[in-house]
Amino acid sequence: MELNRRTMIAGAAAAGLAATTLGSTTAEASTGGRTPSKKLFGKLADGTKVHIWSLANGGTRLKVLSWGGVVQSLEIPDRHGRYKNVSLGFDNIEDYVAKTPYFGALIGRYGNRIGKGQFSLDGKAYQVNVNDGANSLHGGAQGFDKRVWDVEPFVKGSDVGLYLYYTSIDGEMGYPGTLKVKVTYTLTRHGDWRVDYAATTDKATVVNLTSHVYWNLAGEGSGSIYDHELSIAAARYTPVDSGLIPTGELAKVAGTPFDFRRTKEIGRDIRVANQQLLYGKGIDHNWVLDKGVTARPVQVATLRDPSSGRTLKISTTEPGLQFYSGNFLDGTLVGTGGHIYRQGDALCLETQHFPDSPNKPSFPSTTLRPGQTYRTTTIHSFDA
Ligand code: BGC
Repeated sequence: MELNRRTMIAGAAAAGLAATTLGSTTAEASTGGRTPSKKLFGKLADGTKVHIWSLANGGTRLKVLSWGGVVQSLEIPDRHGRYKNVSLGFDNIEDYVAKTPYFGALIGRYGNRIGKGQFSLDGKAYQVNVNDGANSLHGGAQGFDKRVWDVEPFVKGSDVGLYLYYTSIDGEMGYPGTLKVKVTYTLTRHGDWRVDYAATTDKATVVNLTSHVYWNLAGEGSGSIYDHELSIAAARYTPVDSGLIPTGELAKVAGTPFDFRRTKEIGRDIRVANQQLLYGKGIDHNWVLDKGVTARPVQVATLRDPSSGRTLKISTTEPGLQFYSGNFLDGTLVGTGGHIYRQGDALCLETQHFPDSPNKPSFPSTTLRPGQTYRTTTIHSFDA
């Protein structure tokens, strides 16, 4: 009897039938166990509970915190079906709060840097929180990565996912306008991790949302990513000054260490004596994706670990990709699996609008006005 019931429920879920058709009592039963589940991960100093959500689909297993929308773990198989967590993180909330360099987090209101934290909009000057030398980085000292999000699970047809909600009030970190943000994390039946960002505002503001997963496709804590192979569909990048603020130039990658148009090992040119690599202490630059802003996600980058075969393909609607080669990991953090993270032990591929766009009229605009909806999508596809 029990077995029959389970079989029926699984069949109904596969056919996309609603739970009520079978008179199920729990959401879990209605989806054949596919509904994301949550557990307590820890508490913040003020007693606020932080939950960890677990979801799996199509061969990908994801764990997400309500704090910062953090991807705490992302497990995918290698060519022999062996799973590893390929995203750097911690196993406790205290380390996240005290010392995370944005591991796995949702970044906002403005991902990447704004020079001096200053810009003007419709003739009005704004000063936002400065937290990176003279500049503002990733939305300021208390960005979206350090906020507790409301999380709601869903199962829709063959998709499984989480809706994450955060409301950033007018003036938070110096940004104008109350911004209502909804981020959707979806695991598809193919095991793709899709991220849809949406936001609305009640005053003109600037928005640039991204995700800050630190990838190591050989497994977090397994050593350097310099032997990973990468390609980026971009003929130009945005060179920076010593504070990593773009100069405004869109420079050609041809003949530079920044040329990833053909698949290249990350470590190959990383020690070339180049002023831009000195500024970034490695690669910490925005690529100008050839396709520009698109209505639909277009594939722009492929990352592969030759030893395991694990491959990540990134498709996005965004015009830019920040490739950060984990330069500031300095051997002072112990990660999820109990290993020390050192320089180059992971890389970030942050789909975004360009850094400092609010001060660069020639860059694609990051202004959002009342009545408009900010929407971008990035899809991470895995293979081995
Ligand atoms: C930035 C780096 C920064 C890092 C924080 C990246 O997105 O480009 O400059 O150090 O985030 O860990």
